[in-house]
Amino acid sequence: MLDLIVRNARLAPSQTELSDIGILDGAFVEIHPRIEAEARQTIDAAGLFVTPPLVESHVHLDTAMTAGQPRWNKSGTLFEGIERWSERKALLSEQDVLERATAAVTWEVAHGVLHIRSHVDICDPDLTALRALLQLKKTMAPWVDIQLVAFPQDGILGYPGGAHLLEDALKAGADAVGGIPHYELTREDGVESLQIVFALAEKYGRLVDVHCDEIDDEQSRFVEVMSALALRTGLREMVTASHTTAMHSYGGAYAAKLLRFCAQSGINFVANPLVNIHLQGRFDTYPKRRGLTRIKEMTQMGINVSLGHDDILDPWYPMGTGSMLDVAHMAAHVGQMMGTEEQDAVFRMITYSGARTLHIEDSYGISVGRPADLVVLDASDGRDAIRRQAVARFVVSRGRIVSQTVPAHTSVNLGDGNREVDFRMSQTGNLREE
Ligand code: FE2
Repeated sequence: MLDLIVRNARLAPSQTELSDIGILDGAFVEIHPRIEAEARQTIDAAGLFVTPPLVESHVHLDTAMTAGQPRWNKSGTLFEGIERWSERKALLSEQDVLERATAAVTWEVAHGVLHIRSHVDICDPDLTALRALLQLKKTMAPWVDIQLVAFPQDGILGYPGGAHLLEDALKAGADAVGGIPHYELTREDGVESLQIVFALAEKYGRLVDVHCDEIDDEQSRFVEVMSALALRTGLREMVTASHTTAMHSYGGAYAAKLLRFCAQSGINFVANPLVNIHLQGRFDTYPKRRGLTRIKEMTQMGINVSLGHDDILDPWYPMGTGSMLDVAHMAAHVGQMMGTEEQDAVFRMITYSGARTLHIEDSYGISVGRPADLVVLDASDGRDAIRRQAVARFVVSRGRIVSQTVPAHTSVNLGDGNREVDFRMSQTGNLREE
């Protein structure tokens, strides 16, 4: 007797024969066109697309849902966001962070996300947000993987005691070391801050994920420093450069040289298109630059690129529902990745490429022996899911159904006739209890 069988799953767009997926004790035990065994629960996916869980590569759970508290970010710039957040940060309590972060994680799970990398601001002598998110990580661990990046929002050298707080955060249990070199006082401080980040990653055996060059200044060039350090330390694919929006403004000659080094170093990139299309270009008149790093060119070169929601209703972004399909939709537009293969690549950015960034590839994917994590999307494939912002009919974590969404039903009445329209152009899938 199995715990759960997902029947009639479409595991790949080109798949002609549907699959049954058998789950026992939290792991995939059989994947076959027809599983004869019985199960306690059965989901009939009815030909819907079944994917490994969506991956959130970059979010700030500690700041989520603080938009307008105590004041709104009126200019819409990244820098006013940092000012507004520092006012809100002074009011933090562990309970406050925990409640907001729990809500944000719940929203993401409902959208099919089971792997989350969250940055957490450690420029606070009490490390309040970190303590709350470490607690959340532990509570959610049976169902959702949360990685925490110790993020020095106000700088490692630019904030008093920044380097010590960063180290304290790692001792307390943060999974990755962060930085913000373009926000340090000088170029030299920025380079030194990265040296500190890499030295700590080596000392404590942690991943690296740096907010790097999140500015429209074409002179901001810290990705090259990160690539060099990744090569020299051998940390390579354990390293991630987030945002890197200045790359949008680099000249062609420099960008070509830089991307070659990046490919060589094996570092990952995370773009945050929802937030950066809104925050960047704010000092431009017209034409206004797009706030996105070169995701299309990097993908063509085989560099690993994944996507993050970044902010959810906070001083940097007054919108968001925690949907990675929303993020992917924006990425396809701003990155001009609308070819069919490019749209497939964008869907990979919120699944397999995200798993690579988070360094969890060994336990990710629908195959026998791996943790039974999957999402039944109300779509025929990844492209269809992005286009129609498909709901996650079922989200299964370690073999347990943790979320279900019933799609909306649309009825269109034109003229004399009353015509039912299946707007979703797919079947719904359903659950049967034995
Ligand atoms: Fe960020």
